[in-house]
Amino acid sequence: MIPIANSVAILQGSFDCSSHLTITCSQEAFWEAKKLAVALEQKLGLPFAVKIAEVLTGGIHLEVQQLEHPEGYELEIRASGVSLIGSLAGLFYAGQTLLQRLNGSRLEAVKIVDSPRFTWRGSHLDVSRHFMPFAFLKKFVDLLAKHKMNILHLHLTDDQGWRLEIKKYPRLTEIGAWRKKTLVGHGLSEPKQFNNTPHGGFYTRTEMLELVAYAAERHIAIVPEIEMPGHATAALAAYPEFGNTGIAPEVCPYWGVIETVFSPEEKTFTFLEDVLGEVLEIFPSQYIHIGGDECPKKEWQESAVAQAIMQENHLEDEEALQSYFVGRINTFLQSKGRKMIGWDEILEGGLTKGATVMSWRGEAGGIIAAKAGHDVVMTPGTHVYFDHYQTKQPELEPLAIGGCTTLEKVYGYEPIPAELNALEAKHVLGSQSQLWSEYIPTPEDVERMAFPRLCALSEVLWSDPTTRDYKNFLERLEPHLKALDVQYHGK
Ligand code: ACM
Repeated sequence: MIPIANSVAILQGSFDCSSHLTITCSQEAFWEAKKLAVALEQKLGLPFAVKIAEVLTGGIHLEVQQLEHPEGYELEIRASGVSLIGSLAGLFYAGQTLLQRLNGSRLEAVKIVDSPRFTWRGSHLDVSRHFMPFAFLKKFVDLLAKHKMNILHLHLTDDQGWRLEIKKYPRLTEIGAWRKKTLVGHGLSEPKQFNNTPHGGFYTRTEMLELVAYAAERHIAIVPEIEMPGHATAALAAYPEFGNTGIAPEVCPYWGVIETVFSPEEKTFTFLEDVLGEVLEIFPSQYIHIGGDECPKKEWQESAVAQAIMQENHLEDEEALQSYFVGRINTFLQSKGRKMIGWDEILEGGLTKGATVMSWRGEAGGIIAAKAGHDVVMTPGTHVYFDHYQTKQPELEPLAIGGCTTLEKVYGYEPIPAELNALEAKHVLGSQSQLWSEYIPTPEDVERMAFPRLCALSEVLWSDPTTRDYKNFLERLEPHLKALDVQYHGK
């Protein structure tokens, strides 16, 4: 099993699913039972039915029960029947465990009591640098669900492409979703070379609503990211009036930290609030990600308008202006009942009330934020950036951005820094992998970079740290990857 369960007691005998094709459940558990029936049907090629019945009738039975942990579950497999209990999410995870334990149509008798260590167990996926087909997003959600992960953080906008249809501002996708060419080779090599292949694409509202529903069925929240005030070139190519120079940039064909940023004017806030308003209609996620990273201050320093806004608002420097910018957006999101999350640069110039921090430049930002009583998601580049090389022989791997984050390093990651006391540690919600796609151009590349590292991360985030044993993990990983291969690639 991956992630490994916290308590597994081996019992006598086994249960044969093929001799009990009716799954029973309580009324509330019906949809979870139905999902399990469909999955079993797909796996075993047998017609499973679901029936609402209050008592265990010798087959598989699901029952909603409040356990100590809201995402926890109990799975008891005996020759005489199988029982799954938990919340709806818990039942889903119990089902994932059951499916992983299937050996043909047989399940070894066992009693499992299990619950996750962290509430934020996810992956980020950058669809701006390279657009990923909609069908792949669903497959990726499936893969996350199989690892009991519950967050897909979609990086929807950046300098190189705007990927979400916004009704009020159609040029965001008409213009902002397309670039004329793309950098070839590594971004640090000079002179820069480009292909001449246009690249782009975007997701419609309808598609994203479908993805949100698809993910919700698998107890996964889609956390959308709309980048501001930096990483805004694609948006400003479409609507230069919300920039500082009045000059329309091109959708950026290369990677890096770009000086083109949003202006801090009222009309820009109106635009961003309109955009976020539509984002909130599509994504019910409690958290909305506003980026906030890598915002060069040059344009604000050179803009008389930005300088006047700083004066009016008694802002000492451009860092304070960034904090003012983020604070305005935070107030807007809070007024709509949502929580703002951003990369750790939102600490610059003072962290706005109620904001959650994603600590990517190491853990220092996360430690400061947690000590100040803010929630944090630990995403340090050293351990969970899956755009890094994954072996000690990077020259044998396809081109990547750099770094070296091996499977073993991911497996050894501890999201709670030793500097935090028990109370502060409660602010660490969890972690997620980062899949920045500058050098990850296709779905196949995403899979190659995500796996098997994501398997290791799922265990870091779900399982009790006392179960952590790398050798044992590797032994479980081999059949686990084989099963994924059979399911997705038919081999
Ligand atoms: C980041 O990697 N710029 C958050």
